[in-house]
Amino acid sequence: MDEGSTKIMTYTSHYSVLKKECLDSMYADWEESNEENLLFADLTFGGGGHSLAIVERDKRANLISFDQDPDALANGRKLIKEKGFEDRHHLVDSNFCHFGEVVKGQYQELVDKCGGFSAILMDLGVSSHHFDEGNRGFSFRVDAPLDMRMDSDNDEVPTAQHIVNTYSEIELERIFKEFGEEKFSKRIAKKIAEQREEKPIETTFELAELVKYCYPIKLRYGRINPATKTFQALRIEVNRELHVLSEVIPQIIPLLKINGKICVISFHSLEDRIVKHEFKKIEKNSVDSEDEIYEVVTKKPIVPGEVELDENPRSRSAKLRVIKRVSERKVKNKYAKFSTVK
Ligand SMILES: C[S@@+](CC[C@H](N)C(=O)[O-])C[C@H]1O[C@@H](n2cnc3c(N)ncnc32)[C@H](O)[C@@H]1O
Repeated sequence: MDEGSTKIMTYTSHYSVLKKECLDSMYADWEESNEENLLFADLTFGGGGHSLAIVERDKRANLISFDQDPDALANGRKLIKEKGFEDRHHLVDSNFCHFGEVVKGQYQELVDKCGGFSAILMDLGVSSHHFDEGNRGFSFRVDAPLDMRMDSDNDEVPTAQHIVNTYSEIELERIFKEFGEEKFSKRIAKKIAEQREEKPIETTFELAELVKYCYPIKLRYGRINPATKTFQALRIEVNRELHVLSEVIPQIIPLLKINGKICVISFHSLEDRIVKHEFKKIEKNSVDSEDEIYEVVTKKPIVPGEVELDENPRSRSAKLRVIKRVSERKVKNKYAKFSTVK
């Protein structure tokens, strides 16, 4: 959707997960600093909860936010205008895998003025809006075309319907197993392959019903809908969620200034594994570097406390990991500083 579009849409409010923890972490080294300008990025604007809090917290803060969802962007432009943040808050319509090139092409002057990024945030996955806005095809609770594209006005992104009806049975099984950790992936892929011979599978209800009958009877009507894992797997495949995550972390690391941080909130073990692995690799590879040294701040991930879990049960699987660019490596050996050996 173009800027200024008049499409009428209400964006479902989204509870910003681990907001205080993220903000405190992002600002930790800057609040007391005498820097005149700070630069932050939020690669997943969504409902704007984290983004607006970043800009509100300090008048020196500039922020570049990304999202690829037309609804989030339309709502975001309105919010930024209402708050009067247009001078400091820039909202970009793009997949965050292009962050490096967009920043270089459009915001290099701002980066130079601020001396690099003070902190970059990613709050991964889809927002409440995607599930609550039934016609987007993310939810098995509302009957809708099987779409699941976050970037819903981009015809180059294959829809879930395309995947379900064109991928081979073996590919479908792999996706359900890898991205959904679905125990009945083989059965579901086989059933899809049979069913689409008669008629393409087009809607969320058609797929959810098919999956239900691939589950043993005693598991069909439990607390967790049998279609949950299949829908998660398809969503990840449609939006290449794991691929873009692995791609973007090494891309944004060199953009940090000293004391700059990357904060990532993930919602399932597949994402968290990638973040943990990439952070460890970056820390390890920087061991011999003179000036680009990174340290993982969160040896264990930060998770929501009881109050947050009460307020928003959807946050129960959230994990926040943080990596920081430091000026010098911590002395690991506690006796090293007393050593007289030259
Ligand atoms: C969990 S929500 C973020 C919520 C936000 N932090 C808030 O407080 O409202 C994730 C958002 O990131 C967007 N998103 C996910 N992956 C993306 C990607 N690769 N590129 C751009 N935007 C992405 C989604 O469209 C969604 O709006």
